[in-house]
Amino acid sequence: MKIAVSYLKSKYSKEETIERINQTSADYLHVDLMDGSFVEQNNLNWKELTKLLKKSQKPLDIHLMTNDLDIQIMEAIKQKPEMITFHLEATKEVSKWIKVLKKAKIKVGIALNPDTPINLVIPFLKEVDFILIMSVVPGLGGQAFLKSILPKLKELSSYRKEYSFKISIDGGINEETIFNVKEMVDMIVSGSYICQNENYEEQIKKLR
Ligand code: DX5
Ligand code: ZN
Repeated sequence: MKIAVSYLKSKYSKEETIERINQTSADYLHVDLMDGSFVEQNNLNWKELTKLLKKSQKPLDIHLMTNDLDIQIMEAIKQKPEMITFHLEATKEVSKWIKVLKKAKIKVGIALNPDTPINLVIPFLKEVDFILIMSVVPGLGGQAFLKSILPKLKELSSYRKEYSFKISIDGGINEETIFNVKEMVDMIVSGSYICQNENYEEQIKKLR
């Protein structure tokens, strides 16, 4: 199981958080981007981000909680991430964006909000690298894990017999909630459980 660390909610500044994540065994830096439209919060400033993300020694896993994919996907590609995830709820042109990302040789993820049913994503399972299931309402770090997503995760997991996509989970993951999902996911995103502590590696070890 891979671990991506989100620096959204941390005890330290963004810069220090990223430097601390560099020192751990984390697999990815999870970059949460919000536009004040798809979600209420807004932390989108590509100029600042470009400077910040250069500090990361971990491959980038960009999570676009944004509308306006025409602009945001193109900007995200410039950061040379290993993967980019966009939300199914944010676009009617899912296949187009999958093609754009594949052409840029970036792994494609589609994210689903807690209330979005799985059937809407089934047509794309053969094309994507992974599906990210949100286990909190997107927008903030440090929220409680929503158990209501578990039937959906189980259903999605059953499609892996047919297709080769991977599953990632994002929101409220800690040493307890992880037991709900461990058997079904390839990757977890964890933010505050790791970054609100002094010893990041110790927290990561507890998750592994
Ligand atoms: C929620 C973000 C998550 C979040 C994870 O909007 O997409 O990635 O920062 O943080 P925790 O682990 O604190 O829920
Ligand atoms: Zn995220």
